[in-house]
Amino acid sequence: MVACEFQPGLEGIPAAQSQVSFVNGQVGKLEYRGVPIEALAEKSSFLETAYLLIWGKFPKADDLEAFQEDITHHRRIKYRIRDMMKCFPESGHPMDALQASAAALGLFYSRRALDDPAYIRGAVVRLLAKIPTMVAAFEHIRKGNDPVQPRDDLSYAANFLYMLNEQEPDPFLAHVFDICLILHAEHTMNASTFSARVTASTLTDPYAIVASAVGTLAGPLHGGANEEVITMLAEIGSVEKVQPFLEEKLATKSKIMGFGHRVYKVKDPRAKILQKLAEELFARTGGDPAYEIALALEKAVAEKLGSKGIYPNVDFYSGLVYQKLGIPTDLFTPIFAIARVAGWLAHWREQLETNRIYRPSQVYVGEHGLPYITPESR
Ligand code: CMC
Repeated sequence: MVACEFQPGLEGIPAAQSQVSFVNGQVGKLEYRGVPIEALAEKSSFLETAYLLIWGKFPKADDLEAFQEDITHHRRIKYRIRDMMKCFPESGHPMDALQASAAALGLFYSRRALDDPAYIRGAVVRLLAKIPTMVAAFEHIRKGNDPVQPRDDLSYAANFLYMLNEQEPDPFLAHVFDICLILHAEHTMNASTFSARVTASTLTDPYAIVASAVGTLAGPLHGGANEEVITMLAEIGSVEKVQPFLEEKLATKSKIMGFGHRVYKVKDPRAKILQKLAEELFARTGGDPAYEIALALEKAVAEKLGSKGIYPNVDFYSGLVYQKLGIPTDLFTPIFAIARVAGWLAHWREQLETNRIYRPSQVYVGEHGLPYITPESR
């Protein structure tokens, strides 16, 4: 075994060999199973992309149909899960509600048979099917209302917007949302995927894996940034205030949300697609003053921090799109999770193929052989 130096944040240290996705951060390239993200955003659907990620190949027409049908069939959640959610505090963050509900699925589907392909497929279907229902259910429950039941005649994306707003969405809005799900479905060895793989390596059940990954995604340095971008744009308030805002952030060495990435040193390719989508949405449904602020901020950050490779990441424009779709700000990260379940499950399957439990080392920097100090003399 080769001993290597401690790297904070494990930067540059490979944690797995993977065929799921590929990023080239110098040129801004992202591929799922070798297919460029731009092609998937233009031609695929979220469920087809999820199939590609999880099973490693494009589905034949029959396989895709069967996969979609299975998922549609499993969208409902047990009334006990709904009842459990009714006991959650309404002020709690939806990501915490999602983490608890995802973990609870393991109580209801407790048979663990990791060497049974039918079990693996069943768990994949259930997680993809039920996570959106749980996110939408908590949104209604926290307002004191009964959840809206899923509708089998609607697509994956349209059904989620329907469950959320109790109104069948315009097909264009559902299409935009579906593209957002594709863009967030997978992204190599990010923090939540690493978390999923570590949990998977203990051979636990997939519900625990997803719950652990949801908890990791929730933080503001990872999935939580999209929520903070909207708060930040509102706080800036106008294009004139962009420059003083940025100067103040730089002076206090604070991070500007939605910018920077461990891997990308150019503009994130997903941010480019999301920005285009945002513009299409605004053209159809009316502009958003926050978009002008976002554009001015992107320009100002490029001038000040471009030399350090700090450009918009996926979270910078996603919030503006979600806002236009009528999605509450604190659901942005749960929506990220709805999409990322596909990537987590792909990594779960891959981890199982050549599993070895994760057990890294550490560099101990504490003391040795100290005496026990009695309470009176501390
Ligand atoms: N604003 C200002 N400066 C930044 C930013 C930013 N958003 N991001 C990085 N930097 C600077 C940082 O201050 C540091 O400068 P110096 O070398 O002079 O000390 C340098 O760039 C390297 O930063 P780092 O924090 O060491 O980089 P990292 O690879 O550890 O962190 C990051 C990556 C994404 C956590 C970080 O860029 C960040 O905190 N961004 C804001 C939060 C955000 O938008 N997160 C979403 C990430 S993308 C989606 C996802 O992963 O979920």
